[in-house]
Amino acid sequence: MKATARAQPNIALIKYWGKRDVDRNLPAVGSISITLADLSTTMSVEFDASLRNDTLSVNDRDKPAMLPRVSACLDNVAGKQREAARVISSGNFPIAAGLASSASAFAALVVAADAATGAGLDTASLASLAGAASGSAARSLYGGYAELTNAGDDVAVRSLRSADEWPLSVVVAITATGPKAVGSTEAMEISRKTSPFYSRWVEQQELDLAEARAAIAERDFGKLASVAEHNCLKMHSVMWGSRPPVVYWNSATLACMQTIRALQARGVAVFFTIDAGPQLKAVCEPADEAQVREALTATEAVQDVLVSGLGKGAAQVADG
Ligand code: PMV
Repeated sequence: MKATARAQPNIALIKYWGKRDVDRNLPAVGSISITLADLSTTMSVEFDASLRNDTLSVNDRDKPAMLPRVSACLDNVAGKQREAARVISSGNFPIAAGLASSASAFAALVVAADAATGAGLDTASLASLAGAASGSAARSLYGGYAELTNAGDDVAVRSLRSADEWPLSVVVAITATGPKAVGSTEAMEISRKTSPFYSRWVEQQELDLAEARAAIAERDFGKLASVAEHNCLKMHSVMWGSRPPVVYWNSATLACMQTIRALQARGVAVFFTIDAGPQLKAVCEPADEAQVREALTATEAVQDVLVSGLGKGAAQVADG
């Protein structure tokens, strides 16, 4: 009744922002992401009849505040009549800072819980269970390039390409640590209800998805760079146009953006994307990784830089 799984965060190149059904956590738009290799969350789930309630430890600390979402996700995988569970999570990167820690956490949680119950659900079912907990988590079930599409009253995720077929590097510039000011669910609802740009954002998403899909099929870096930056800045424009405004950037985020523009002006194949947090993620060809890392490290107020290739989807690992 115990199993352990590991999952990597994913970074959306065509973003999910806004929900069409808050209760069921269904996104308003499709999205395309890349799954990282070197950042990960390892999660063990042990169902134990002697426990009275679920317990959760994250990086060796009890985290009762995060428990309701975890328990609800376990109910979805194992049924409400399940035994209570001991959940132990550990990650090698900061949580709740716009680095998609919830994506890797819930992807690992559903895989571990499924293995612990012995149900053996398929990847598509696990993706939709992870997505019910955190929209972006559905994509971390798949490696490389993944697309999430709305399918009836559910989501469907598929792999567009493996990491090996088009290996790119991701350089993450950490500009602030600590939890973000507004959680993504609350911020998405503020945008949906108040941003004058929200409806256009939803209407246009299919165009960006088609362009990114084609760029990935053709392995056309310039095309992917152009549509990914456009889609990212459009999402943040929706947020900035909300009331109250949702602004995740700080001055170092903008300084990093200028660093990327300077690299591009020198002919380096690199582009940026930014999620619901102040970190900037630069995507580049592996050959340019060292100079992108160097340039971001030298950018004012950057606290740390993490580097990762693209990796595989969530999977069970040996218990230990
Ligand atoms: O999965 P959530 O609810 O944390 O939302 C993720 C939202 C973005 O990271 C901003 C975009 C995305 O598609 O991952």
